[in-house]
Amino acid sequence: MNCTKCKTKAVIGLPRHNAAFCKNCFNGFVHDQVARAIKSEWMFGKEDRILVAVSGGKDSLALWDILLKLGYRADALYVNLGIGAYSEQSHAKVTKFAEAVAASHGAMLHLHTVEQEAGAGIKELAQLIHRPTCSTCGTIKRYQFNRVAIEQQYDVMATGHNLDDEAARLLGNVLHWQEEYLDKQSPSLPASVEGFAKKVKPLYRLSERELAAYAVLNRIDYIVEECPMAKGSKMLQYKEVLNRLETESPGTKQTFYWGFLDKQSKKQPTATTMAEKDRAVLHPCTSCSQPTTAEVCSYCKMMARAGTAKS
Ligand code: AMP
Ligand code: FES
Ligand code: ZN
Repeated sequence: MNCTKCKTKAVIGLPRHNAAFCKNCFNGFVHDQVARAIKSEWMFGKEDRILVAVSGGKDSLALWDILLKLGYRADALYVNLGIGAYSEQSHAKVTKFAEAVAASHGAMLHLHTVEQEAGAGIKELAQLIHRPTCSTCGTIKRYQFNRVAIEQQYDVMATGHNLDDEAARLLGNVLHWQEEYLDKQSPSLPASVEGFAKKVKPLYRLSERELAAYAVLNRIDYIVEECPMAKGSKMLQYKEVLNRLETESPGTKQTFYWGFLDKQSKKQPTATTMAEKDRAVLHPCTSCSQPTTAEVCSYCKMMARAGTAKS
């Protein structure tokens, strides 16, 4: 198998693009897909300060690497969730990568430790407030991503969600007809109200397999294990189904998710009307000032319940 572009020996085949690439041309392909995502979804420019949420996994570390190599001003945030050996290992991978990019690009890492602020790790916290671990974790991560982006005055916050993540999420939202989630499933969400950071997903054009290949080829040392709490989750089931379809018909995930984005862009209310809608329902949390639809935001409610349960 030879590289479609330069005809030297290929290291990876991409059935959905009917192509194969050598390492150099593959890196070019990956960087090009990210550059296209940034441009077509108006994510950010070269002057903007970007905060990348990094988990220690392949996607988010690859995203940080790619943005720096494309010449963007990108720092990162790691949230230590306190999930035993999994958090220890992912923390170590992030720190090692951060040290390398601090030396090569002057980029910096912010760190938030759940245990320090909440007095317990995610698992104990979820038990205290009688909620599933993953939804407790989701609330905390979303809150901290936004908080650090706003407090440290970043222009935009980026996550490493890839094509597989977004296609699986779309499948879940369609299966349960969650229309309000469908409306917000865009790779670029504006900072609709004061206190909310702009949020983007620059990897939505790249698959999980392509990002794993990118990380390996570029010697990015990432944590291979999934979070132990995610075992058997609905998201993993949707991913498995989509992978089966993809093997039979390469390009299925792309047609599904990009097709959805195309249809949304035709019917989507403009960013201004979305912002108007948000402004009508959101106001500052009486406890922490982050925008919320209730009087007290779900993070502050969670912390209050955890505090009461402990005392
Ligand atoms: P996940 O929800 O685990 O699929 O992760 C989706 C994205 O959220 C990742 O690509 C990261 O950008 C971000 N993320 C997940 N976990 C963390 C974490 N502990 N700290 C910082 N960012 C994270
Ligand atoms: Fe949040 Fe696993 S990453 S519970
Ligand atoms: Zn609050």
